[in-house]
Amino acid sequence: MTSKIWGGRFSAGPAAIMEEINVSVGFDQRLAKQDLHGSRAHCTMLVAQGIVSKEDGDAIQEGLTRIEKEIISGNFLFKRALEDVHMNIESRLADLIGAPAGRLHTARSRNDQVATDFRMWVRAALETLDEEVRKLQSVLIDKAEVHAGTIMPGFTHLQTAQPVTFGHHLMAYVEMFGRDRGRLIDARTRLNECPLGAGALAGTSFPINRALTAEKLNFDRPMANSMDAVSDRDFALEFMAAASILAVHMSRLAEEMVNWSSVQFGFIRFTDAFSTGSSIMPQKRNPDAAELVRGKSGRVFGGLFALLTVMKALPLTYSKDMQEDKEIVFAAFDTLELCLAATAGMVDDMKPDVERMRGSAGSGYATATDLADWLTQALNIPFRESHHITGKIVKLAEGKGCDLADLSLEEMQAAEPRITKDVFKVLTPEASAASRTSFGGTAPDNVRKQAEAARARFLTLGKAP
Ligand code: ARG
Repeated sequence: MTSKIWGGRFSAGPAAIMEEINVSVGFDQRLAKQDLHGSRAHCTMLVAQGIVSKEDGDAIQEGLTRIEKEIISGNFLFKRALEDVHMNIESRLADLIGAPAGRLHTARSRNDQVATDFRMWVRAALETLDEEVRKLQSVLIDKAEVHAGTIMPGFTHLQTAQPVTFGHHLMAYVEMFGRDRGRLIDARTRLNECPLGAGALAGTSFPINRALTAEKLNFDRPMANSMDAVSDRDFALEFMAAASILAVHMSRLAEEMVNWSSVQFGFIRFTDAFSTGSSIMPQKRNPDAAELVRGKSGRVFGGLFALLTVMKALPLTYSKDMQEDKEIVFAAFDTLELCLAATAGMVDDMKPDVERMRGSAGSGYATATDLADWLTQALNIPFRESHHITGKIVKLAEGKGCDLADLSLEEMQAAEPRITKDVFKVLTPEASAASRTSFGGTAPDNVRKQAEAARARFLTLGKAP
């Protein structure tokens, strides 16, 4: 059997394997809503321009409404033999209204049709992700505020560096996710031009009104070049790039949760809601959700690379290669939705062991920088020399197997005679964190202010970061 829709010049139907490789309706039916929306706008424009009669236009709109109901109620039968979502809908329209259905595809090609549908889908996906990242930021800010004064060790090279607050650490992720939202919104702005009316590639001889369809579909304007309109997939690549960076950020937070919840760190504990057991080791409480967020990031990066490779060196304009774009984007979206919800759930669930974090921040010479700073601030010793003196004192403490604060004043003075007992005031992790009052620093008061400012910057609805 030849295709009803494009089979005019064919005398035989496709080989089974041809149909198998060509068919996309299994996945592109996710574009059904956008396809109906696009068809409605196109039909309205055709009538407004006098290209299709009002009568036929009304019949088409009515048929599309019936199809929409069938799809929503799950009664629409998608047929693989009809290849894709576009031809399934058009064919059903013909079943329902007969001859006028044949007028809908006037001045339109599947090339501009799919580009329009997919843009609208990605636009909605960007908006959904923006909102979900916003929710994650909200949970992080709440937690950060509660723990604005909770002291923990900050790390560089995963070695104890300087005391920070847990709230400050969490607020770092709020900033990262804020930039992610900026990328999503930025991609949406660039995406929002309408390909419809580009036809197969060259435009059309019908007197269409592209501005009207663009407006009806909430695009800012029609795309300026018909060849670009049908062959551009930058919007999908930008989606995947922004998605990948977001996935990187989630994987970093997930990794920290895995580390922190280990017995060795013991910084946080998940309730039973976010812990899993081992089938053999009864003592285990595994952070599976965090590990999966970390692991699933790989799929998203893989998708970015797959789509870059699909598009690389593709000549203008449309090639069927581009049908491969949709599954990649759909899968990345699904993965991110899942990971964002799981991450927000874990952030809300995790309980820090405040004592243990404080204890860890008090060991490992985390306040050595504070000692060096004190030598410079109190004794006016040049910082390089202060660094050297402090190094000697750390070595001494190491030799004795104690912390800096456990050394006697005499022992300190052996390294630098001008040191006074005031030095001990700066050697606690609390004093260290509290002294970091520079803009963006870790002092608890700063963190409280940062959290408040972040609410206004990121959580106000309808406001782009
Ligand atoms: N299913 C196709 C896709 O997703 C629709 C466009 C088909 N265009 C064509 N010239 N065969 O890319």
